[in-house]
Amino acid sequence: MHRAPQPALGRAGDERGDVAERGDAAHGVGILGPTEGDHADREGGMGRMLEPQEIFAEVAAALGPKALSKKKVLITAGPTYEPIDTVRGVTNQSSGKMGYAVAQAAVEAGAQVTLVSGATALAAPPGVERVDVTTASDMHKAVMARAKQADVFISVAAVADYRPVDPKPHKIKRGNGNLKLELAPNPDILGEVAALPKGPFCVGFAAETEDLKANAQAKRKKKGIPLLAANLAHETFGKDTNALTLFDEDGMHELPLAPKIVLARQLVAHIAKMLPRR
Ligand code: CTP
Repeated sequence: MHRAPQPALGRAGDERGDVAERGDAAHGVGILGPTEGDHADREGGMGRMLEPQEIFAEVAAALGPKALSKKKVLITAGPTYEPIDTVRGVTNQSSGKMGYAVAQAAVEAGAQVTLVSGATALAAPPGVERVDVTTASDMHKAVMARAKQADVFISVAAVADYRPVDPKPHKIKRGNGNLKLELAPNPDILGEVAALPKGPFCVGFAAETEDLKANAQAKRKKKGIPLLAANLAHETFGKDTNALTLFDEDGMHELPLAPKIVLARQLVAHIAKMLPRR
């Protein structure tokens, strides 16, 4: 193990480059960290060691058996954007971080991963095929074209439930009175995939603002899916950490607060355990 330098002693990025040069990617030598955070000398910045649980998860992922080897995994992530006119639209605060972490974890587990993504600021994890979409209708089309070939479908996207009925092909001008916006329901992508005969193993996400347990259990039944990961909207949107509660036929499994990539690996391991039981 190599200790990361404190920022005052040299830039961590430079050090990482040195280590990378001395390391040997061709022989499977990888580097974990450093990351940003507080230091013993109270000076923050790049150069902090990863948390032990993160190091453990990274090492386990690198050395462990490939739980989803040869599986095709289809994932949705990020927000959808439903245009009102040429410059305005209806969207939500999803950053895509959880979905992208799940895509990375699935690749690490040996899966062939396609990520259907709404607009995010994130780069696709290496090895992931990304399909960019904007609206829920685009996402619906992209998913339905691929769902039958998938072994697993993980629906992490924050899909807008409604879209403006009549998006204007020009910028709407300000008027004096109220402006009425009529909304029509979007297709329930996860619901449709779950209803496919011989469809993939479906995993849903639920972002709740209250009564997480009751709402999540009801949602799993309503969508007809074997596994649902529930989180509180205010604890996940835009954040790098999250806490998940998994609901399946055996009941409830808590995944306590951790970086999203750690949770994603735990979720992927849970899915891999459930797959043979189908
Ligand atoms: N979802 C979907 N298509 C939609 C809406 C949601 O595929 N049109 C998926 C999401 O990706 C998520 C799950 O359904 O996996 C639950 O999404 P959520 O918005 O929490 O649930 P809804 O069914 O929309 O229920 P509600 O908004 O009433 O809580």
